[in-house]
Amino acid sequence: MKTKKLNNNIEIPVLGFGTWQITGEDCTNAVSHALSVGYRHIDTADAYGNHAEVGKAIANSGVARSDIFLTTKVFRNSLEYKAVHDSAERFLQELQTDYIDLLLVHWPNKEVAMQETMRALLELKEKGSIRAIGVSNFTTRHIDEVLSTDTPICMNQIEVHPYFNQRELRAYCAEKHIAVTAYSPLGRGEVLEDALIAKLAEKYQATPAQIILAWVIARDMIAIPKSTNPDRIEKNFESLDLKMSEEDLQLIDVLPQGDRLVCPGFNEFDH
Ligand code: A2P
Repeated sequence: MKTKKLNNNIEIPVLGFGTWQITGEDCTNAVSHALSVGYRHIDTADAYGNHAEVGKAIANSGVARSDIFLTTKVFRNSLEYKAVHDSAERFLQELQTDYIDLLLVHWPNKEVAMQETMRALLELKEKGSIRAIGVSNFTTRHIDEVLSTDTPICMNQIEVHPYFNQRELRAYCAEKHIAVTAYSPLGRGEVLEDALIAKLAEKYQATPAQIILAWVIARDMIAIPKSTNPDRIEKNFESLDLKMSEEDLQLIDVLPQGDRLVCPGFNEFDH
């Protein structure tokens, strides 16, 4: 499995399996199938309500825990010092594991001092409960705020797909040596119908999803597509084998841009 080295020297598989909006038995089945076809990076979050199902699938997979990169997220309503500690303890139980590879702050929250959240996360790292600290849905301003606390973050997980390529934020993250994970890389399915993507799919004898995922990975991001369909879970994994020419990648780079598809029900982007 191809990996990317993070700024703390930890290796993360460049293709992960996303579990947003997959719950209950569907989640256990999807994660089990993903692990059986070779995914070694699973992405979840407290807010997804599927920790127990993800934990069960990992425990029953026969894959060594040390061979799996597990990411989860502490939601923005639990960022106070004690809430972070309490959440992490609960996550370990729910996920049936001794450690989380990467714990992300799930959306910023200006009501809680960044220093307070980061102090708790650093303690969890020192204790060995988590291996790395990251953030999700942080803008350049939020990233500056974290970096002013001297906390070494290695990841910003954000919405990225060909219709919302976040070019500037990605460049800023690169400048700060923060890796980017692209969530909703298929644009929640919307980009799959694109005419250029269809043309490239034909040229490379690939599926449209494989073209998009290969572009995300070629652009030095980590992709976490989600699917509940066994065949699509498998096909998406095979995107790791697809290499496109730089010329074709650049055609995807310049597709017209739209709005974000994942909109929070709160306003954190107003200052
Ligand atoms: P399904 O679960 O039925 O496969 P994103 O990861 O960008 O949020 O996109 C997820 C959406 O795209 C889901 O609705 C998923 O539906 C669908 N999807 C995932 N992989 C594929 C694929 N290879 N081809 C078509 N649709 C896909």
